[in-house]
Amino acid sequence: MKLTRLAILLLIVGFAPAQGQEPILNFENRFLPVIASNGMVASPEKLAAEVGTRILREGGNAVDAAVATGFALAVTYPRAGNIGGGGFMLIHLAEENKQTFIDYRETAPAAAHRDLFLDDAGEVERMREFFSHQSAGTPGSVAGLIYALEKYGTMSLKKVIQPAIDLASKGFPISFALDFELGSRQERLLMDAEAKRLFFREDGSRRPVGENLRQPDLAWTLKQIRRKGRDGFYKGPVADRIVASMEANDGLISHADLAGYQVIERQPVRGEYRGHEIVSAPPPSSGGAIIIQILNMLEAYDPKAWGHNSAAYLHHLAEAMKLAYADRSRYMGDPAYADVPVAQLIDKAYAAILRKRIDPLEATPSAEIQPGIDLPGESSDTTHFTVADADGNVVTNTYTLNFSFGSHIAVPGTGMFLNNEMADFAAKPGFPNAFRLIESDANAIEGGKRPLSSMSPTMVFKDGKPWIATGSPGGSIIITAVLQTIINAMDFEMNIASAAASARVHHQWMPDRLSVEQGVSPDTRRLLQQLGHNVVDTRRTLGRTQSIMMEDGLLYGFTDTRRLGGWVAHY
Ligand code: DON
Repeated sequence: MKLTRLAILLLIVGFAPAQGQEPILNFENRFLPVIASNGMVASPEKLAAEVGTRILREGGNAVDAAVATGFALAVTYPRAGNIGGGGFMLIHLAEENKQTFIDYRETAPAAAHRDLFLDDAGEVERMREFFSHQSAGTPGSVAGLIYALEKYGTMSLKKVIQPAIDLASKGFPISFALDFELGSRQERLLMDAEAKRLFFREDGSRRPVGENLRQPDLAWTLKQIRRKGRDGFYKGPVADRIVASMEANDGLISHADLAGYQVIERQPVRGEYRGHEIVSAPPPSSGGAIIIQILNMLEAYDPKAWGHNSAAYLHHLAEAMKLAYADRSRYMGDPAYADVPVAQLIDKAYAAILRKRIDPLEATPSAEIQPGIDLPGESSDTTHFTVADADGNVVTNTYTLNFSFGSHIAVPGTGMFLNNEMADFAAKPGFPNAFRLIESDANAIEGGKRPLSSMSPTMVFKDGKPWIATGSPGGSIIITAVLQTIINAMDFEMNIASAAASARVHHQWMPDRLSVEQGVSPDTRRLLQQLGHNVVDTRRTLGRTQSIMMEDGLLYGFTDTRRLGGWVAHY
């Protein structure tokens, strides 16, 4: 007995953080981040992270490095890095103390229409929605990256795109992660002759890990962009190849769609949570508004007192998720085509009304939750990387082809996959989409419209300074993965590595189920079941964040360990 007490005393004395020691590295954290003092890139793939860091070291700012990383990932991370997709970039500019949001989401080709993916019986033709030339929206990535570079970068396009060109033309060794990604999509990729030619041997087998992978067609496309800027992609021979592939396969993207593609710079959506400022993605992303809406609901509670991933905490979190995703289903869409009541949704008074619907002792079945109840007067495989430079500029960027390898269709002669972002529309409003999200007319298909997204590049500010920058892939799961990462830091005082690595849960209102990752104890799951939750063990992990935390002049980076191949490069 005495010995036990002594042991406990020793543990307390010996291992308690010394006074003044930064909580960031205290012993409560089982995971430690990568630490650096100058610049950092957290990326889902190593070579691209190193490209970004090299640009920083050579004097580029965070935007230069982000654009270089974005182009490099199009070569080294073909499942989601892209020039044929679209995305969102959130930028913090230190000198002006300003944040801005670059929306380079794909748009529906002009010929697209509400019933595009319905058959004669009015049913959704899923294969055509997911895996055909019609799945593709007009790509925005090239225009978006160039827009960000020209407006907020300091280096030339020639400089930042060159590393991607080198990786494509000289090649790079196939990593275990790339081999795994190609392997898990092999069957469908082999259905497209061009995708097969790009990544597989003639007999359809995979090349060995370590073999040099050259992508001369992609190098050619990138060189067109190097020479002519955005016109090198949206006009001329690259555009001709895209349109020819569309015309030969019932696709919709025309020369006019490509030439007319527009980047939109927007104000990010902002909220406040226990003294932190949350800056995140506005519509056509649903992410920022939902994150803030959930935080507003949670603010009246004391998650820390409940304990991290306790049943009480997860119950309230899940109930708040349901209410917010229910609102998503009705109100969210491209703000140019639908009135999206963001201000009301993120209003703290509205959160107070919603909170009354949370029963502390019982889960409310999703079927009993209707969107927007009491909403006061309505007014009107993706990937993420994060960059911070030595001057305090920060970029957090999520871009995507939608599914891993998009539609799995490559455009002959360009080395580029087509996105299947058209599947992010509600092919049939009121019925679940690819991510089982239910959406309304606000997200019905219409020519020129941007499909609703969940991509949520997000920053948290503390004392007016950027503190966390993060984001994730995962479709509908993106929002809750980002949310829990920042709550873990804000409420549970975890360092960024533990905040990102901790087990997550996900509820999106419909289907009515609470997905729970490994690491939430069986006891907690049982308590959640007793509270009425339909607890489901996810066989898959939830999200894959790339995060940087900034404190006391240091950068703390973490690449989510839920998937292979991520890297934090720094100098
Ligand atoms: O924009 C969206 O919400 C989806 N296209 C994102 C897809 C995604 O994250 C798939 N990745 N795992």
